[in-house]
Amino acid sequence: MRLLTGIQPSGDLHIGNYFGSIKQMVEAQKSSETFAFVANYHAMSSGNGGEKLANLTMQTATDFLALGIDPEKSTFWVQSDVKEVLELYWVLSGFTPMGLLERAHSYKDKTAKGIAANHSLFSYPVLMAADILLFSPDIVPVGKDQIQHVEIARDIAIKFNNEYGDILKIPEFKIQEEVATVPGTDGQKMSKSYGNTVNIFGEEKKQLKTIKKIVTENVAMEDPKEFLNCNVYNMAKLFLNEDELLALQNRYTSGGEGHGHFKLYLAEVIWDYFSEFRAKREHYMANQGEVREILSLGAKKASAVSASMIEKIRTATGIRY
Ligand code: ADP
Ligand code: TRP
Repeated sequence: MRLLTGIQPSGDLHIGNYFGSIKQMVEAQKSSETFAFVANYHAMSSGNGGEKLANLTMQTATDFLALGIDPEKSTFWVQSDVKEVLELYWVLSGFTPMGLLERAHSYKDKTAKGIAANHSLFSYPVLMAADILLFSPDIVPVGKDQIQHVEIARDIAIKFNNEYGDILKIPEFKIQEEVATVPGTDGQKMSKSYGNTVNIFGEEKKQLKTIKKIVTENVAMEDPKEFLNCNVYNMAKLFLNEDELLALQNRYTSGGEGHGHFKLYLAEVIWDYFSEFRAKREHYMANQGEVREILSLGAKKASAVSASMIEKIRTATGIRY
């Protein structure tokens, strides 16, 4: 079983990224063949570039390694180090009806939020299809927002195969239902672009400040509180085991504590949860050469896998002459 995922180097990683994607990938390393890459070409479509993009690429790679991507078990690389993906992107463009891209939520959402509507933003799902189809994964683990992109990849692959034979593997997506959409500090989907994130590797004081901003109901200290729709509770849920969750529910329903108390507790829980990862991150931050070496080996491993696919595609499409 082969799994593949990409993550954009577009900012600090947040707990939505962790529970929606990275954690599944790390767990999958135990039993599956896992492919993970830093999607630096994708980040360009939202206007990132220059030194900032270069730095974010290294930062994201460092964070991934700290969070448990193991280069011995996984193939881990930077997207732009395997250039064949751009070749496949072009080939697949010929199998992508305009209507398919016009229906893409992500493009519509991003342009509605004021991101400039340029071609790379529009054709982004085709590049994502190339990322996936070049490596023939069985499964692409994603958050809900990315399902449509995997469906587009499937549609494109089917069209290509109809023309040239059974070359591309049709991928499936997988979401973890209970954490399908991690809520942000305002209760909406947590996302870098909405400014409502709780970052994984924030400074402790800043982290607490962010958590204190979580929107909660205005209820008197002594009164019992509703936990089911509480943004603090819904975030804490991700980190707690059953007993801890029951204990927290009790604190809500008994009254006598304000949301400020629950926020302090949440901040502590999150800080402890990521403490081991923080230590690993400090190691890689102090040894960026080691990260570069890991990425370079990863790109070699990834290229070895993509080579046979790109050969088949060049031959089938007549690019190989
Ligand atoms: P952002 O929305 O902050 O820009 P990305 O689009 O870079 O995040 O997402 C990277 C990965 O993390 C994707 O697989 C995405 O589905 C997942 N993800 C992002 N935000 C969430 C969330 N709030 N809940 C669940 N998964 C998420
Ligand atoms: N589009 C994904 C995101 O924004 C990142 C990504 C790029 C990706 N290529 C991919 C995810 C291939 C899975 C498979 O989160």
